[in-house]
Amino acid sequence: MLAADPDTTGSLGMAISEAVEVAAKADDTHYSLGSVLNHVMLHQTVIGQEALIQMEDAGDYPDIVIGCAGGGSNFAGLAFPFIGENLKKGRTTRIIAVEPAACPTLTKGVYAYDFGDTAKLTPLLKMHTLGHDFIPAGIHAGGLRYHGMGPLVSHAYELGLIEAQSYPQNPCFAAAIDFTRTEGIIPAPESSHALASVVYEAEQCKQTGDAKTIIFNLSGHGHFDMAAYDNYLAGNLEDYAYPEEKIKASMANLPKV
Ligand SMILES: Cc1ncc(COP(=O)(O)O)c(C=O)c1O
Repeated sequence: MLAADPDTTGSLGMAISEAVEVAAKADDTHYSLGSVLNHVMLHQTVIGQEALIQMEDAGDYPDIVIGCAGGGSNFAGLAFPFIGENLKKGRTTRIIAVEPAACPTLTKGVYAYDFGDTAKLTPLLKMHTLGHDFIPAGIHAGGLRYHGMGPLVSHAYELGLIEAQSYPQNPCFAAAIDFTRTEGIIPAPESSHALASVVYEAEQCKQTGDAKTIIFNLSGHGHFDMAAYDNYLAGNLEDYAYPEEKIKASMANLPKV
């Protein structure tokens, strides 16, 4: 990969390939996925189960549930129990997955079988994908720079159980700075995508005069992302346009199934 592009920004797809390679070469090492696969999603639903009880304690219920989505695990963890409530109890909570405009897997990808990693070492997964060799622009939300999306999240999107939105990184950092100033918590650049959507949806409410309860997942803190905040505050962050040509090129390399 470095031979092809010595200045490559890397990608999560490459990182997975590297990790699998290391694990496969050592007898005492195994590779465990942190996102994407069904069992990870199931595990993470503890988030949504707790959120349901927290809402009950608060005497409220969300009209909108929002999470950022890279491989889909923090989003699914919060959202799936609320999808369950929609299906079982006829509730109408809107559920929104938020991704970067630079890596728009749900909003612009195709629903097809693809590899989970760049070097094609994983089994094929049916998911929304931009192509396993798609390398997203070097945005600061590294955890959202994944070409695919969890099969369960992709399936839920196909069934119309969830919505998806994408945002460029500048409005995400703007929302994160507001959140930091009001809550005293510095969000991870990944989580800032969920916040951009929260701000957008709250602004919509202001315009329509509707009072809505919005719940979102703060998937991580940004304590190790000071350079990213520094760049944003210095006005140095680039918003990347929809990488149509790069995605088209990667689509040509999807496995034929
Ligand atoms: C803070 C944070 N949020 C979100 C994500 C995206 O992963 P997922 O979509 O699996 O929750 C990552 C990935 O590294 C992350 O570090």
